[in-house]
Amino acid sequence: MEDPSEQAAIAATPVENEVVMRGNGSYNKNSAIQHIAVMPALEFIPNLSNRKELTLVDYGCSQGANSIIPIKHLLSPLPTHSTIHLIFNDRPLNDFSTLSKTIKRNEATLSRNGELQIYPSIVPVSFFHQIAPDNSIDIGFAWSCLNYLEFLLPPLPSTDLQELVKQRAVRSAKAAHVDLVKLLRLRAREIKSGGVFMSAIPARSSSGVPNVAPAAAALMAATLEMVHAGRISQAQVMGLDMPVHERSMEEMERVFAEVEEVWGKEVCFEKMIQHPAVAELEVKKKAEGVDLEELSKEYASTVVDWAMSPLTWFFVKTLRAGDGEMDEEEMFAPMTAEEEGLVDELAERAKRAFVRDQKDGIVEQCYIYFKLVRK
Ligand SMILES: C[S@@+](CC[C@H](N)C(=O)[O-])C[C@H]1O[C@@H](n2cnc3c(N)ncnc32)[C@H](O)[C@@H]1O
Repeated sequence: MEDPSEQAAIAATPVENEVVMRGNGSYNKNSAIQHIAVMPALEFIPNLSNRKELTLVDYGCSQGANSIIPIKHLLSPLPTHSTIHLIFNDRPLNDFSTLSKTIKRNEATLSRNGELQIYPSIVPVSFFHQIAPDNSIDIGFAWSCLNYLEFLLPPLPSTDLQELVKQRAVRSAKAAHVDLVKLLRLRAREIKSGGVFMSAIPARSSSGVPNVAPAAAALMAATLEMVHAGRISQAQVMGLDMPVHERSMEEMERVFAEVEEVWGKEVCFEKMIQHPAVAELEVKKKAEGVDLEELSKEYASTVVDWAMSPLTWFFVKTLRAGDGEMDEEEMFAPMTAEEEGLVDELAERAKRAFVRDQKDGIVEQCYIYFKLVRK
């Protein structure tokens, strides 16, 4: 490309955050916290016992495992023979094949054994665009997904990892504010007056307790081991910049204030959600004659596999970007056997580091829950 102004325009064009969870059904098997995280929201799901027709969107539904319970809850009081349009949304590169199988497998649950007319559809469009016509949606759910930013953020110049982490947090907070205001304005177009938008969003605890600290520390230790072993480069580690932001309650309140002409806030609170493996470990430890070492390894394996599911794609993308300029096709090509090997090595090392340095450490994540009503 010869024309410098064309080059500058391309450099300034933001790149979409094409995050996807690990495919082949892996997310469905490794989304235990996300499953528990939906539960506190159930009691705020509106009771629509007089509705004969309803349209719901599950934004950022991934492979669908955690969509079923809240939808079932919403549909349980509806009159027999009601007509329900269920729209499952995620980014275009999502594992929609597993999602289809999840919907099919739960057909009887969703339709209450045929009592309801269910019309599922899949919309592979970023939720930072309008995904349905104006005033067409009654209820929107968004579980464990509004922490993902719309765009990859421009690299920062610092060469010190600690400093870089701080600078990235400030930069991501600004982007996260713009993103959530935009997203709520888009939902305000789609969702009818009186309709509801509900979310459980991974967030920053006001108590100061860091999220998933032992798993994050084990992954960091494993990453550094891989650098020392020459398996990945220091530059690749510095490039690992996940376009996600966990907002504080104050940040959420600033967003709500900016969209108050279209959304009324009915519910908003924060809650710490423990990985269910924590409680399982405690129960198993009490059984007689158990091998405690084995239990610790099993626990480490569960929580590291869980942490790896959203991380895998960023890790692979960072490895690829380290090899120089890439076009979109290269960026989104399926993982090679070598990349699969590095991902598995990272996970194995992280599991060992967890047992060694963080043994049985409690993995928990703060969530902010909100329910907004369209004015
Ligand atoms: C951690 S998963 C949560 C999935 C599911 N809602 C649950 O509770 O288990 C986050 C999901 O958000 C999706 N996501 C992230 N950004 C998105 C966007 N801009 N548009 C649609 N989906 C998005 C990801 O692809 C991923 O499937």
